[in-house]
This record gives sequence, structure tokens and C-alpha cells, in this order.
Amino acid sequence: STGMQGKPFGFSTCVCRSIEFSFQALVEPKKEETDQACLTVNPSHMKKAFKVMNELRSKCLLCDVTIVAEEVVIEAHRVVLAACSPYFCAMFTGDMCESKAKKIEIKDVDGQTLSKLIDYIYTAEIGVTEENVQVLLPAASLLQLMDVRQVCCDFLQSQLHPTNCLGIRAFADVHTCTELLSQANAYAEQHFPEVMLGEEFLSLSLDQVCSLISSDKLTVSSEEKVFEAVVSWIKYDKEARLEHMAKLMEYVRLPLLPREYLVQTVEEETLIKNNNTCKDFLIEAMKYHLLPLDQRQLIKNPRTKPRTPVSLPKIMIVVGGQAPKAIRSVECYDFKEEHWYQVAELPSRRCRAGVVNMAGGVYAVGGFNGSLRVRTVDVYEATKNQWISIAPMQERRSTLGAAVLNELLYAIGGFDGSTVQTGLSSVEVYNYKTNEWSFVAPMNTRRSSVGVGVVDGKLFAVGGYDGASRQCLSTVEVFNPITNEWSYVADMSTRRSGAGVGVLSGQLYAAGGHDGPLVRKSVEVYNVTTNTWKQVSDMNMCRRNAGVCTVNGLLFVVGGDDGSCNLASVEYYNAATDKWTLLPINMSTGRSYAGVAVVDKPS
Ligand SMILES: *[C@@H]1O[C@H](CO)[C@@H](O)[C@H](O)[C@H]1NC(C)=O
Ligand SMILES: *[C@@H]1O[C@H](CO)[C@@H](O)[C@H](O)[C@H]1NC(C)=O
Ligand SMILES: *[C@@H]1O[C@H](CO)[C@@H](O)[C@H](O)[C@H]1NC(C)=O
Ligand SMILES: *[C@@H]1O[C@H](CO)[C@@H](O)[C@H](O)[C@H]1NC(C)=O
Repeated sequence: STGMQGKPFGFSTCVCRSIEFSFQALVEPKKEETDQACLTVNPSHMKKAFKVMNELRSKCLLCDVTIVAEEVVIEAHRVVLAACSPYFCAMFTGDMCESKAKKIEIKDVDGQTLSKLIDYIYTAEIGVTEENVQVLLPAASLLQLMDVRQVCCDFLQSQLHPTNCLGIRAFADVHTCTELLSQANAYAEQHFPEVMLGEEFLSLSLDQVCSLISSDKLTVSSEEKVFEAVVSWIKYDKEARLEHMAKLMEYVRLPLLPREYLVQTVEEETLIKNNNTCKDFLIEAMKYHLLPLDQRQLIKNPRTKPRTPVSLPKIMIVVGGQAPKAIRSVECYDFKEEHWYQVAELPSRRCRAGVVNMAGGVYAVGGFNGSLRVRTVDVYEATKNQWISIAPMQERRSTLGAAVLNELLYAIGGFDGSTVQTGLSSVEVYNYKTNEWSFVAPMNTRRSSVGVGVVDGKLFAVGGYDGASRQCLSTVEVFNPITNEWSYVADMSTRRSGAGVGVLSGQLYAAGGHDGPLVRKSVEVYNVTTNTWKQVSDMNMCRRNAGVCTVNGLLFVVGGDDGSCNLASVEYYNAATDKWTLLPINMSTGRSYAGVAVVDKPS
């Protein structure tokens, strides 16, 4: 008997009506109701019914209305349409002539889209694509299919990119999708340096540009970007837009620009020179610079107020590495949620690569794939969770140094696997705007397992191994991109190959590394002004070939090996307390020679 009574026909087990009901029953006990409160709910009932209704529709059975849009004719059941769409419900239950009409023509929606939406009403399935979303959303709005509308908005939000966010913002505005509108707006503000380069920005109206650049939340590394944006917007249609220059300059916070930039760039700009109102803004900025610091704060002017962008949550991304062989795995650490998770794997195995964040993309440059040193480069886009390949370097390089300076990616030294046991001194540079690599001046020393960092517009190459003298290096050299020259600076206090090199508050750190078999836990820091190295606290673990990155004012050292094991642990340095702290959670695998970068957490 239990078989039949317990779970007849696979229905869910007997459930009491609801928590609220039971609660109500407790407050006001009603004998007869509590006795009946045990109901059986068949969760698949509605689904089955709709399936049958849809089959009836496809056979034109029991249909009582014909919906026509353009050339498309759809037979359907009034009650089904009315049950799911408030628009049809009003139409069929109201006093209008449509309530009785056998055939109804829908204007403002194309036939294919209407047919998709009626399919949705019967099946609850909808396919949103880049191609159809722009017609689907307005049509769903018309039929008041709010769930479909939401799916469209979610889809558009997932597609936000510097090249389309302004278009999506305008679309959201027209269709009163308030949440999407504010998401797209925030996205445009947060990615302004990339957004301003695009066609969408250049095609904005004057009012739209004013509204965007007047926002306190605009994320720009420097006000220069805003000035450049204004100039390029005017120049895009100079004849028609010239007269708007003064209006726009009202929103450029010129006083916040460095004096040199004002004199060398702003004053030289003919758009400024030719208009007295614009010149007045420049004079205002110059005057501001002449004031003593304590008096500057007293000025209340919208142009002297620093912008206050929302700082986005960050993630740390750990790319490839060896564990113990070259791996494809990529894992991320979410600083806010404090957990690790895996993301899309590298297209091929890679360790000993150079990894950097440039313009929001994570570049994995060269490295070793388990059998060969490679020249290939893969780029990860966090918002799309995908890797793509770009132009390869000219030379094969593993254990190279990689860094970004002036929007150029430098690949420095390393080992090509063929030059007999010696490191490379050559350096090449990638320009993402042209997708091209070219050589710059080589270092003075061959360096594999070199660590690099950028301070004050210069690139530092720290330690490494030269192969020729069979020695780990304590020497350090600096590259000046203006003169295209490398020169030596002060040596570290000790030889370090495979040191973790990173920059925190304008100082260059060299953490761990090794000299022969000796793996270090000591750390030293270089002050550019004094050209001196100074010892700071040791790490908790000896590490070489670790990944390094800086985030939220802390220097993170990730994995590496201690001479016998690959490490899964991560530790970070706080300069204010001169202390290293282990992250409470390890990576999923011990890895050395992994690359690390920090990116905005995809929303
Ligand atoms: C400068 O621009 C303002 C605002 O567009 C305009 O009113 C003014 O005539 C211009 N002045 C000159 C000298 O072109
Ligand atoms: C490494 O790269 C080379 C050249 O592209 C390829 O032939 C080889 O199969 C790769 N090895 C591994 C282990 O992926
Ligand atoms: C470097 O040292 C100088 C002199 O001691 C000091 O004033 C400066 O703050 C240091 N630089 C950094 C970035 O800490
Ligand atoms: C992290 O890994 C290290 C070994 O690398 C181990 O000693 C430590 O217990 C691990 N910590 C956690 C929290 O799992």
C-alpha cells in the first residue's frame, strides 16, 4: 500500500499548503482546515498542459483567434494568450471590437518576432541574440511580456563593452529600461578612456557629451583624457562643432592638470587659442597653480573638484604555470568574496610566460608549453571569459619579464631554448592599436628569469640569470623609453634569479628568488630617488618563480616553488606595517612560473 500512497505517479511527496498557512493555523486554529491542509502538488502539471496546448495549436485545434503581423499568420487560443500577456488579456476581455474579432492584426511588431513571442507564451523558451535583441525587447514590452524584456536587458548588460555601451545606454533610455540604463551609464563612466576612442562617443550630441564629462564618477587616470576626448569630439566634425568648444571646456577640470601639460599641450591647442572663453579657462587653471597649496583648497569651483570614480571590485587572475608540468588552468581570486574559482583555460599549456593587464585585457606572452619555448600571445577578456590569440612575438621567450609602459607591452629578455644555455638581452614591444611587435634597444646584460616593474615612466629589469657566467645576477638596469637606452642602477644586496618583482607606492620590490640552489625568503625594495636598495621583512615562505601583482595598496606574491615543492599559498605585503600575511585560502593547485594580473571583476 505504501507504494501507491507515498508517491503516486511520481508526484512530489505530500506537502502542507505553505508555511504561511501553517503559521496562520497556529495563530487562529481552525480544526477543519488544518485537517485538510495536506495537499499534493504535481509540479509537472502546468508544463504538460502547456505542451498539449502547443500541440493543439500546431494542429490548429480549438484555436479561436488568428493573429496577423505583416505576412505572418498565427493561429492561437485566446485564453492562453490572455493568461500570459496583459496586453492580450486587455484586448480579449475589454469592450473593444478586438475582444470578439476572429482575426487580429498587430502593428508595430514584425511577423517573425511576434511568432517568437507567441511561441514563448506556449513554451517559456526564448532565444535572445545580438541580432534580434533590438526588435525583441520593444515587442516584448508591447505585449507586456516582462520576463522576456528582462532576459533582453540581462543579455544587453552581459554584452556591455567600451565600443557599444553608449548605444546600449541610448537604447535603454528609449525603452525605459531603468536598470540597464544606469548599468550602461556606469559602464561608460568606468571605461571612459576606451569609450572616448570609439565611434559611438564621437557621434554623441553636445548635450550627451556634456552630461558624460561633467560626471564626478568618470574614471580617468588623469584629466588629460577628458581634454583629449573634447578635442577629438570637436575635430570629428570640426565645422559644425567648433562653436561648442567653450561650452565643453566648462566641464574639463583644467586646474587639476599638471602645469607642464597646460603649457605644452592645452595652450598649444588651436581650438583653445582661437577662443577667448576657452583662454579664460586656461588662465583660471594657471592662476590656480600659482596659489599656495593651502589656499587652493578654499576655491569652490566645479573645475577644481577632483573626480571621485567608484572603485570597482577587483579580481586576481593566475595564468598557467607548472604543476609540475605546464598547465592550461587559470584561476581567479575574488578579493571581496575571498574565494578562488576557475575560469576559461588557456588555449594551450603555458608556464614561464609574461602576464600583464593592458587596457583591461590579460596578456599571456610567450613561455614554455611543455616541449617548446613559444612566441605566441593569448589575451583573456574577463567580461567574455574567453581567450583569443594575437600577433606572436618575433622571438621565442620563456621566463621573460613583461610590463606595460605608455600603453605599450614590453617583453624583456628570457630564454629562447635554442641559444645554448644563455638568456636573451633583446626586448620587444607590442602596440595593441596596430597589433604589431617591434624591437627596442637590448639590455646590457642577458637575463632569463628576470623580474620587471615600471616606476616613474621607466622600466626596471631586476636580477635574473645570464647563462654565460653561469651566475644569478644582482645587477639591475633601467630603460628610458624617450631615449631608448638601458643603463645600470644600484645592484641589489644579493643575487636573485626568478625573484618576484612588483611595484607598490612608487617603489620597486624584489621578493625571494634564488642564487644557485638557495631559495630566498628575503625581500628588498628600491627607492628611485635615492638609488638605493633596502631590506624589508622576509616573506613567510622561501619562494622563487612566483607571480606578483599589486592591488588595494598591497603587494601579492603568488605560488612559486621553495626548491622542492610548487606552492599553492599566496602572501601579501603591507608597507605600512612592514608585514607579510598568508592568504587564508590556497590556490587549488601548487604552481610555480604562473603569471598574475589584476582586472576589474566582471559584472
Ligand atoms: C568662443 O566660444 C563661445 C561659445 O561658443 C562663443 O560665444 C564666442 O563667440 C567664441 N569666441 C570667439 C572669439 O570665437
Ligand atoms: C608546443 O608548441 C609546439 C609548436 O607550436 C607544438 O608543436 C607542440 O605540440 C606543443 N607542445 C605541447 C605539449 O603542447
Ligand atoms: C625615497 O627616499 C626619499 C628620501 O629618503 C623619500 O623622501 C621618498 O619618499 C622615498 N620614495 C618613496 C617612493 O618612498
Ligand atoms: C596552503 O599550502 C601550504 C603548503 O604550500 C600548506 O602548508 C598550508 O597548510 C595550506 N593552507 C591552507 C589554508 O590550506
